[in-house]
Amino acid sequence: MGKLVLGLAVACAVGSCAIAAVMVGRRVRSRRRWWSVVRALDEFEEAASTPVGRLRQVVDAMAVEMHAGLASEGGSKLKMLLTFVDNLPDGSESGIYYALHVGGTNFRILRIQLGGQRSILGHDVERKPIPQHLMTRTSEEFFDFIALSLKEFVERKGNNLQPSQVRGNDLGFTFSFPVKQTSVSSGTLIKWTKGFAIDDMVEKDVVECLQKALSRRGLDMNVAALVNDSVGTLAVGHFYDKDTVAAVVIGTGTNACYLERADAIIKCQGLLTTSGGMVINMEWGNFWSSHLPRTSYDMDLDAESQNPNDQGFEKMISGMYLGDIVRRVICKMSLASDIFGPFSSKLSTRFVLSTPLMAAMHEDDSPDLSEVAKILEETLDIYVVPLKIRKLVVKICDVVTRRAARLAAAGIVGILKKIGRDGTGGITSGRIKGVRSGKLRRTVVAVEGGLYTSYTIFREYLNEAVAEILGEEIAPYVILKVMEDGAGIGAAMLAASNSARSVDTVQVL
Ligand code: BGC
Repeated sequence: MGKLVLGLAVACAVGSCAIAAVMVGRRVRSRRRWWSVVRALDEFEEAASTPVGRLRQVVDAMAVEMHAGLASEGGSKLKMLLTFVDNLPDGSESGIYYALHVGGTNFRILRIQLGGQRSILGHDVERKPIPQHLMTRTSEEFFDFIALSLKEFVERKGNNLQPSQVRGNDLGFTFSFPVKQTSVSSGTLIKWTKGFAIDDMVEKDVVECLQKALSRRGLDMNVAALVNDSVGTLAVGHFYDKDTVAAVVIGTGTNACYLERADAIIKCQGLLTTSGGMVINMEWGNFWSSHLPRTSYDMDLDAESQNPNDQGFEKMISGMYLGDIVRRVICKMSLASDIFGPFSSKLSTRFVLSTPLMAAMHEDDSPDLSEVAKILEETLDIYVVPLKIRKLVVKICDVVTRRAARLAAAGIVGILKKIGRDGTGGITSGRIKGVRSGKLRRTVVAVEGGLYTSYTIFREYLNEAVAEILGEEIAPYVILKVMEDGAGIGAAMLAASNSARSVDTVQVL
């Protein structure tokens, strides 16, 4: 009997030891997996880091590339496109104008009433999603949809106009893609960006396509200004504040434009403008420099994109891509460990995690990060994630957003450097002058796009980085101003200042 009890006791002890050993083994393995994930995050953070020294290299590279793009056609990845906008609105414009803004996932139709003296008396906007299938079909289908939407809008909003208020049927058209302009109201599409792929449109005159669709719909309207969204934003910025010299868009895509001296546009010898200057659409989304902190996730995203080797800066900064970079990091971590539970196939789906969802996780301020848990569950099929893993997800969002905002800030300071507003004296013949010889002047940069206007952390990182790069002596002279709906309103203002004819009423035939 005694032997039996002893035997049982020994067996139990051996069993417990074995269980304990398995548990300890599991815990060690799981801790090792956790540390491998932490290491992966550290490596990512290091590769994506943007210390001020690196940002200053990006600033210099941007200024040098701008110079090269102005020197010769194809001289740089920065296209530095002419816009034929030589005079920006000054606030004296008056009358009622319509505008169309096509650019991202939504398009907008606007009607604004300008009252002179820098005032906007009325402002109607309608936002409509562009049906996904139209983004890759024919130009005729695409423009028919736009023309029909405009016609319905004009019919709804135009009825109660006093004839004296209407300045005619001039329309401002904001088309937020790279266009080679041939005048202020014509230009051909160079290429699509942001997931659009209507092949028969490339190299076609954008205004001609819209104008034909308008007449198919019996709409008597005349496109008086064709503008990039960055140019529209600059126009509205200047309307309110004449110190506005540049504009930046950070939304689905990203871009910037600024006012350049005509004689600095070397590739266009003999360019004469009444003001002596012209707005240049930089198409900075395509900027590239070896100083950009590129990670393996960026390379994969680029290789799998519709436009590999193109829009490199945009792919690190804009709303179309940030969520997808975060998804890629989570996907890699989930493949290498079980910290997110069993692997979810959703993690392999491109663009399943949109940037607004990523921003919502980043800005989740609940103590248990319940929003993060909800989004992981509803969007990525990742269930029951402990708090420590939710915090890790927030950290990934932070690394991606911080890099994007700081690179955009470096881009902005690059423009200021090119035009001598960064306090260093700018650049001459591609060489950077080191001395602080520039006279300090109040300088306003108009900013539009959801990342800056609606994503607080992004905006704070960007503002902070601009001040950090410029230093405390110069920073107070540089003001970033939000221009909500600026792209569309600015196009209507440019239609006002460029309108060649003056007709009294809007006619819908
Ligand atoms: C386009 C630009 C546009 C920017 C912001 C980019 O993808 O190439 O023309 O201004 O997006 O919408």
